[in-house]
Amino acid sequence: MSDKRLEKARKYELENTQDIPKEQRPVFHMSVPIGWMNDPNGFSLYKGEKHLFYQYYPYDTCWGPMHWGHAKTKDFIKWEYLPAALAPDKEYDEFGVFSGSAIEERGKQILMYTGVKEIKCTDGKTEVRQTQCIAVGDGVNYDKLEENPVITADMLPEGSSLVDFRDPKIWKEADVFYAAVGSRNEDGSGQIALFSSVDLKKWEFCSILDKCNNRYGKMWECPDFFNLGGKHILMVSPQDMTAEGLEFHNGNGVMFACGDYDLEEKTLKREMVQSVDYGLDFYAPQTMLTEDGRRIMIAWMKSWETSLWPEEFRWNSMMTIPRELQYKNGRVIQNPVRELESYYENKIEYSLVNCRERAKLAKVEGRNIDLTVDIASGDYEKFQIDFACNERYHTSLIYNKKDNTITFDRQYAGCAKDIVHSRSMYVKENDGKIKIRLLLDKYSAEIFVNDGEQAMTSLLYTEPGAKEIYFQADKTACISVTKYDIKKTV
Ligand code: FRU
Repeated sequence: MSDKRLEKARKYELENTQDIPKEQRPVFHMSVPIGWMNDPNGFSLYKGEKHLFYQYYPYDTCWGPMHWGHAKTKDFIKWEYLPAALAPDKEYDEFGVFSGSAIEERGKQILMYTGVKEIKCTDGKTEVRQTQCIAVGDGVNYDKLEENPVITADMLPEGSSLVDFRDPKIWKEADVFYAAVGSRNEDGSGQIALFSSVDLKKWEFCSILDKCNNRYGKMWECPDFFNLGGKHILMVSPQDMTAEGLEFHNGNGVMFACGDYDLEEKTLKREMVQSVDYGLDFYAPQTMLTEDGRRIMIAWMKSWETSLWPEEFRWNSMMTIPRELQYKNGRVIQNPVRELESYYENKIEYSLVNCRERAKLAKVEGRNIDLTVDIASGDYEKFQIDFACNERYHTSLIYNKKDNTITFDRQYAGCAKDIVHSRSMYVKENDGKIKIRLLLDKYSAEIFVNDGEQAMTSLLYTEPGAKEIYFQADKTACISVTKYDIKKTV
């Protein structure tokens, strides 16, 4: 292990990032400067700016010993890269500096992360040990605490996993710090452990905030816990879920558990569970609170299962558009941050046009756009938008009025791998009226239905020249369309 690992990463990113062609980059999404990125980390305010750290391996386009990369933004759309913040350079984190969170405290930026190391077991095999650690800094440089690790798995209730214990989310209430940490119960399934501290150095176990009794996947990764419109939301990313209708799919999922927070017991009285995003590429989201009181969520726009990327790219991964969360009518809704509107240009509008045969609308095209399609009425049963099209490729969004489903299908997007290409979700029945908003940023499509009731996020690998958009219905659909181009930020 070398304590020069951070210096090495910083030098590497400085020397190599400049050569990456700008045309490869999304124009309004945060993407990794070089190498590999997964989960968002430490998404928070510091000295009035919004900071985002991320799981980072600069040297290759696949996962490796985890560092924390670092960026900041004033408006969630245009990002400034900062030097790598953390490297795996201590005995307790030499296998990786895993996910975590950040908070501002007395002018300092506090990072709380999972340190991972390998140990040799008595049978000669190796196992990892995950502990929670703290680093303190000024927004650019960070010192790991002498006291690290500050939370170890032996502080968990008996029977909890010593191997899976990670991704602390820190917050402060009155004068006490709390950290919610992903863990596994003795039944092997997910639980969230809550710890508290008054000085960030000495922590004690408080409670199991929630656990899933094998109901929602196995290990619960990347917890976040916050108040939203009077309800408490525990957001977790469970591994190894099994499909449930159209609500959850097999593999890694993300869910909101909503209920009331019992302050005495320090447990969540869970009332409702909801999938966060119904697309193919969405994982490990995190939230922050803005100065004007908005709860903003950002996620890794990718999936562990289908980790595809153009081979010639020397960078791999981007984040979703940051999304404003609200709690409305018993559900969490999400919409792109309003700051995006400052980047609109070239507005095109159509009001109440009848659509049937597959056809384009003049000037409604592009791969960096915010497109809203409002279906007002019609005797149609199926309505379809094909986007990112040329004569060879297309990606489809199909609204089936009878089933109340929307299906995303990237089968013909140009990807030569036999992976999952399609997913469907239920939408609210509203007599054939529906509002579909589609954000396209070169290789990604984020879909928001009925002002954020559902979201569906997926990557598509179609060549960027495929820009056409077609509309069609099996009978007549009367639609209104608004399209904006998004100005380049990179
Ligand atoms: C989630 C995750 C986290 C972990 C990190 C490692 O995607 O598995 O639980 O901290 O990625 O990179």
